[in-house]
Amino acid sequence: MNHMDRPPLPRSVDEITGSRRLRRMRKADWSRRMVQETRLTVDDLIWPIFIIEGENRTEDIAAMPGVKRMTVDLAVREAERAAKLGIPALATFPNIALDKRDQTGSHILDADNVINKASRAIKAAVPDIGIITDVALDPFTSHGHDGILRDGIIVNDETVELLARAAVGQAEAGADIIAPSDMMDGRIGAIRDALDGAGFQDVAIMSYATKFASGFYGPYREAVGTGGLLKGDKKTYYIDPSNSEEAIRETEADIAEGADMVMVKPGMPYLDICRRLKDTFGLPTFAYQVSGEYAMIKAAAANGWLDHDRAMMESLAAFKRAGCDGILTYFAPQVAEMLKG
Ligand code: PBG
Repeated sequence: MNHMDRPPLPRSVDEITGSRRLRRMRKADWSRRMVQETRLTVDDLIWPIFIIEGENRTEDIAAMPGVKRMTVDLAVREAERAAKLGIPALATFPNIALDKRDQTGSHILDADNVINKASRAIKAAVPDIGIITDVALDPFTSHGHDGILRDGIIVNDETVELLARAAVGQAEAGADIIAPSDMMDGRIGAIRDALDGAGFQDVAIMSYATKFASGFYGPYREAVGTGGLLKGDKKTYYIDPSNSEEAIRETEADIAEGADMVMVKPGMPYLDICRRLKDTFGLPTFAYQVSGEYAMIKAAAANGWLDHDRAMMESLAAFKRAGCDGILTYFAPQVAEMLKG
C-alpha cells in the first residue's frame, strides 16, 4: 500500500490543534527574536583562569585545549582584555609547586601565594573587574583533597577554621567574592564571621552550595596538578549525583549561614538543580560549566562531530533557560567576543 492509498486522517490538523499553531512565531528570524524568552549576554559570564608562579610564561593543559595556565603578569593582561569585553568577573585557581604542598595545605594562608599575588596585581591594574577566589585546600595539599586529611578522614571543623583564615587573607589581597568550593559543614557561617570580624563586611560569599561528587572534574585536576595526587574520591564531602533533596538542604544551610549567591557544579548535567534552587530560594544562582563539560565540546568539535560554536552557545543558553543568573565558563572570552560581533 503506498502513501496515496492510505485513508485520510480522521481529523484535520486544525481540528486537532484548535487552530493553535506554534510554528507561527517561528517562521522568521524577526519573530523568533521577538519571542525569545531568555538571552545570554556578556554580563552572564564569569571566567575561571589558572595562575602559576613566574613571569611571562604560559603552560598548555592537554585536556583543555585553548586554556592555559599563566603567570600573574599575563593574568593582569587577560583581566584587562576581559574587562574591555565587559566580562564582570574572573575566578582564579592556582597551580602550586609540589614542594609547597603539604598535609594541611598551609600555603593557602601565605599572603604571598600566587592567588593573593594575582588578586593584588589585578585589583591594582583593573579595578573594574570582580575577583572571585576559590577557598579550598585541594591545590595546596599534598593529597589533593579539599580538607585536612587525618587517618583517612577529611577533618571538618579544623578545615573550616583554616578556610576562614584563608578567606580573610584573600579578602586582604583584594578578592571581592569568596567562593568556598570544599563542601565542609559550617564553612559559610565561619567565613562570614571571620570576614566581618576583620572588617570585610562588603566582601561577598558565593557558595558552591551544591557541589556534586562528579566525574566531570578530570581536566581541572590536570590544570591544578591534583590529578596524580588524589587517592580515593571526594564522596565523603561532595553530594551524590543522584540527589536533589539533599541539594536543597545544603543550599538552605548555606543561605542561613550567610551566602549571598549560590552555585551549582557541574552545570550541564545538573540543570534541574539550577531550576530548583532558583525557584525555591530566588537568590542569585550560578552554574559552573566545569572542565569536563568544556573538554567534551572541544573534543567532539576537534573530531568534526559537533559544530563548536553552536554547541558552545547552546550549552550556555540552556543555563539561562534553567534560571541561572550567570555561568562560570572557560568559554567566557570567546563567547564575549562572539556576542560583541
Ligand atoms: C575543588 C575544585 C574542583 C573544581 C574547582 N575546585 C573539583 C575537584 O577537583 O574536585 C573543578 C572545576 C572544573 O572541573 O572545571 N575545590
